[in-house]
Amino acid sequence: MKAPIHVAVTGAAGQIGYSLLFRIASGHLLGPDQPVVLRLIEIEPGMKALEGVVMELQDCAFPLLKGIVPTCDLNEGFDQASWALLVGSVPRKAGMERKDLLGINGKIFTSQGKAIQENAASDIRTLVVGNPCNTNCLIAMNNALDIPKERWFAMTRLDENRAKSQLAIKAGVDVDSVKNLAIWGNHSSTMYPNYFDATIDGNSVPSVITDEAWFTEDFIPTVQQRGAAIIKARGLSSAASAANAAIDTVRSITTPTASDDCFSVAIHSNGEYGIEKGLIYSYPMKSDGQKLSIVEGLEINAFSSEKIKATEAELSEEKSMVSDLLP
Ligand code: NAD
Ligand code: LMR
Repeated sequence: MKAPIHVAVTGAAGQIGYSLLFRIASGHLLGPDQPVVLRLIEIEPGMKALEGVVMELQDCAFPLLKGIVPTCDLNEGFDQASWALLVGSVPRKAGMERKDLLGINGKIFTSQGKAIQENAASDIRTLVVGNPCNTNCLIAMNNALDIPKERWFAMTRLDENRAKSQLAIKAGVDVDSVKNLAIWGNHSSTMYPNYFDATIDGNSVPSVITDEAWFTEDFIPTVQQRGAAIIKARGLSSAASAANAAIDTVRSITTPTASDDCFSVAIHSNGEYGIEKGLIYSYPMKSDGQKLSIVEGLEINAFSSEKIKATEAELSEEKSMVSDLLP
């Protein structure tokens, strides 16, 4: 039996938490033979609801779940954690952009970054889900400078999954026929789902879907506005699909990527593809199971270039909005 891995989840009593924790405990995050300890972090008003979630986790009798630590103390919450999934934060309401949350949510990530640095295991990796996730990740990372920058991630996988589904529906194929679709930039309405490098059954997407107007008038706006569409329909932001994307992200980071595929996650940019160094920017990524690399050498056409610059500009603007939270 392997030693348990400690996974910290903030916002554990929230909507995403409710879809996420049971999958972590049943082995979907780290594998069917990997025991886990769940460290569940909430703010004080969420602790009562968290008690109920803990009871339900116990009532599932998951063989891999070796311990549950519910807490509103960040030091206790991040203690020994090898993965930190930072979900806890306020979701937007209809009519808001995600960056409108920066004033409310940004400061959460200063103290969480510090607590992760002080308490987590030496192999800690952090995935930020709480919005606006790229810039919240930037804040946490900059408040934990002893942790290597390549261990910080913000989630754009939900956008990738959304984009793949839209392409599959349009082409009339199964979703797993769609590969190599990467989201560039921010998890926001400027994100760019780059369909030029994507494939359907091994053929380039524009050669399969020849309706050019559909990409600009339908596909890109649908993916960019999907979060808002869900809020409008449900009255609440996406939760089960967000939890699923968090699981997918960690699986993609920790398992080798197929040679004909890539995945999307926002990482610390070192200036790749001309993007401003220091931003948390989503790129096409590959993993060898241990280390990640950005897919190199892609040809960026004029259309894509404009899009990847627009989303970079928004991230740069968000960075300047939180300069007081970056030491
Ligand atoms: P929710 O309101 O249902 O739950 C949030 C939980 O976080 C609550 O239980 C709350 O008590 C807790 N919380 C708030 N501040 C906290 C803090 N400082 N420390 C610990 N816990 C804290 O919201 P939700 O639907 O679970 O969404 C959570 C976040 O995820 C939102 O910001 C939402 O916009 C974001 N989100 C991101 C993506 C993505 O693709 N990146 C997708 C969906 C949602
Ligand atoms: C999403 O993409 O569904 C989330 O980021 C929630 C939101 O505010 O859109």
